[in-house]
Parts: sequence; C-alpha cells; structure tokens
Amino acid sequence: MTIKFPNDFLWGGAIAANQVEGAYREDGKGLSSSDCTPNGLFGDIVDRNQNNITSIKDRAIDFYHRYPEDIALFAEMGFTCLRLSIAWTRIFPNGDETQPNEKGLAFYDRLFDEMAKYNITPLVTLSHYEMPYYLITQYGGWGNRKVIEFFTRYAKTVFERYKNKVKYWLTFNEINMSLHEPFTGVGLARNSTKEQIYQAIHHQLVASSQAVKLCHEIIPDAKIGNMLLGAVAYPLTPKPEDVWATHNENHGWLFFGDVQTRGYYPTYMRRYFKENNININITDQDKEDLKSTVDFVSFSYYMSCCGTSDDSLRQKGNILDMVPNPYLKASEWGWQIDPTGIRYLLNLLYERFQKPLFIVENGLGAKDQVQPDGSINDDYRIDYMNDHLVQVHEAIEDGVEVLGYTSWGPIDLISASKAEVTKRYGFIYVDLNQDGSGSLQRRPKKSFYWYQSVIKSNGQTLKNKSSNE
Ligand code: BG6
Repeated sequence: MTIKFPNDFLWGGAIAANQVEGAYREDGKGLSSSDCTPNGLFGDIVDRNQNNITSIKDRAIDFYHRYPEDIALFAEMGFTCLRLSIAWTRIFPNGDETQPNEKGLAFYDRLFDEMAKYNITPLVTLSHYEMPYYLITQYGGWGNRKVIEFFTRYAKTVFERYKNKVKYWLTFNEINMSLHEPFTGVGLARNSTKEQIYQAIHHQLVASSQAVKLCHEIIPDAKIGNMLLGAVAYPLTPKPEDVWATHNENHGWLFFGDVQTRGYYPTYMRRYFKENNININITDQDKEDLKSTVDFVSFSYYMSCCGTSDDSLRQKGNILDMVPNPYLKASEWGWQIDPTGIRYLLNLLYERFQKPLFIVENGLGAKDQVQPDGSINDDYRIDYMNDHLVQVHEAIEDGVEVLGYTSWGPIDLISASKAEVTKRYGFIYVDLNQDGSGSLQRRPKKSFYWYQSVIKSNGQTLKNKSSNE
C-alpha cells in the first residue's frame, strides 16, 4: 500500500518552554516549579529563592534568544506545525498578580510572528510541567481551589492576546502524570496522600474545562484539546487476573480523558474512590464547568507496558513504574520500543472518545556521536520514527481521524525526567554538554534530511518494512 497522509495533516515537532528557553529570570520571569527541580522532575526540590544552586535548564538551549535560527531550521525541514508551551511565569511571574508582565507577552508575540513568516501553525500548551513556584509556597499549589482562578486569568490573558495568532491550544501537558510526580504535576509535596492528589487533580480538571470554555468564547475558530501520557498497558499474560489488572491500570490514565471528553466522572472512579476512602469535594458548579469538553484529544506516546496482578514485577521507568514486555527491545534509557502500540493506542482512543486525535509527542532519546567530519548518523532515530509513522498511517487507514504529528524534541533539549542533555531527541544537534559547556551551535543530523523528505512527500518516503511491495 502506498503511504500517503491526509493533505491537511500537520507535520512538525514539539518543545516545552522550560526545556528549551533558558533565560529563566529574564524580562521579569518568575520562578517556576520546573526551576525548582534543577536536576529534573524526579530530582530534589530546591527553593531557588533561598539557594543559589544552578541548573542546566537556566540557559537550556537558549531558545529565548535563538528562536529565529531554530524556527528557520524547522521551516527548512518543512514543518507546518510547532507545538510549544508558554511559561506561565513569564506572563504572571508569581501567579496571583492581576496585571500580566508585558515583556513576557511580547516575547511570545515575536515568536508567533516568526513562525507566521514560514506558515508554521502554532499548537500551544498552556501548562507544560510547570507552574509559578509562588503559588506552591503561598497557596499550596493545585490543592487550593483558588489556583483555578489564577490559571483561568492566565489562560484568558493569552487567549485574548494571541487570538489572531494561535488557533490550536492544549491545556495541561500529560495531565495524568500527577499521580506519579505530584510536585511537577499539581504543585504538591511528594508524600501527599492520594486524596490530596486527586483533589488537586480535580481542581486542574475544572481549570482545564474553564479554559476550554474561555477559548471557545474568545477565539471561536480555535480548537482546544487535552493532553494525555498515553501509557497503554497490554495484559502480561491471558490470566484473567492479569487482564483485569490491566483494565484497571488503563483506567488510571483513561479516566482523565473520560472526564475531559465526556464532561463528568466515570462510574468506575466512584468505586475506586469509595474503596480507597478518597473523598473529593466536587461542587455543583464544578459539575457544570466540567461539561465544557475538549475539541480533540492529544497524547504523547513513547512506549507501551504490561499490566499484571503481581505488583512485584514493576520496574522504575521514566515517569511510570512499568512492567516490561518480554517481546520488546528497549532504548538506551530502557524505554521499550513498540511501533504497533501507537496504532493500537490511536484506535483505542478514537473508539473511546470519538474525537479527532493529535500525536503531540513521540521520539527516541539516544546518545548521539559526532563523527570526525561533523556528521551525526542517527539511523536508530530514523528507524524508530519511520516505524511509528508507518503505524500512524495504518491507524488512519483503520479510520482514525489524526490531525497531525509533532515529534518530541525536534531540536536537542533538556530532558524532563533527569535534566539530561546527553539524552537527545533532535533532528538538530545542539553543541551542549552536561556540565553546561558548549557553543550551543545548531547542526542538522542525518534524521533532519530524512524528516524533511517525509514531510515533503507527505509520508510517501516512509518504508513499511513488513510489506512485500
Ligand atoms: C514527556 C514530557 O513525558 O516526555 C516531555 O511531556 C519529556 O516534557 C518527554 O521531555 C521525554 O521525557 P524525557 O525525560 O526523556 O525528557
């Protein structure tokens, strides 16, 4: 079968403010939760007001100053879309101000204008793994209902400001990850109880639906989606207990999508809350607010995992504790590579939510070697992405409506979990070492030209290795 994606399919890459911008205190930016996890979201939480420790994220890849060069390189690859996030702390440095920081707003104006020069459609995440640190210390993060109001003020401000420039929005990045890392997800202490975490998550779900409503009012021609960490689990064995454990494991993250697409809590959560003695304060107004559902569902996909009734088989992954699949190989970071999983996931989500889908993260973190002639031959990355995109195409043939694909980290950036730069995802190499040294010079890898040809041919240059054609 010839591979050809829909004509209006959006092709591009995805980045997040705190992993690329740097300039962490410039132009009035406030401290974010990400600034306070200098060694990555699983590292120590450090109050940067009290401590002059530094982080590689402080300068990151200096996208804040170098974005024109980077956007030009994305354009050279043929990007029609770039997913990026706005740093909430550039707009409201502490989070509870009533007036926004003009310098922060002006930065994103410049950025969107630069993208517009090349007809690159922005897909903007309102909150990608960060929130104002002040809201955590002074208000208790998302545990406090008042934070909903601060978030919606921020959302309203950016919707109004960029209404003519941005037509695709996402609310919270990987909203289901708070269950695994509550500080980054909802600004709570890591030893918080399940009840505290679910209450904070509830506030975030309400804030997300309020943002959806505001977006529809302020930018009627915009589309706004949610964002899930697509942690799809297969049963480890056909043992009924394993199948049921897997069903529940998948509910753990599908729950977020269920609320955000249906507008109410699914029944299975009631039983879960009851059995675990979790009491969530849900007001009548909250129930009303939740009815504002998303226009599309977006997700990240890096790997699948297995579900089992035997918890002792779990291993520490990046964000999740996972049970590995004996049939799959893994990346250098132990992330299991499963291209078929993306087809399975696309079908699962489409059948369940009946909404268009957007793949907003997928890619391979690997150690790249610069050859003596300066080239970087990242065939492993090309293989990974080729095989996943072939399966995305299969899903489209299955009838799934897919709006686009933004690969994670089209330019090397600082990894989220451990703030590593040696874990590279890019088509563009950045000369930066873990100790912060390096010229920050950008250089295309082999995959740069590969992705360019995929986009140019709208998928026709992809190789379906299992096909005999
Ligand atoms: C996703 C996040 O979980 O995975 C990104 O949305 C992150 O922010 C990506 O960078 C890859 O994870 P890591 O730890 O390899 O950067």
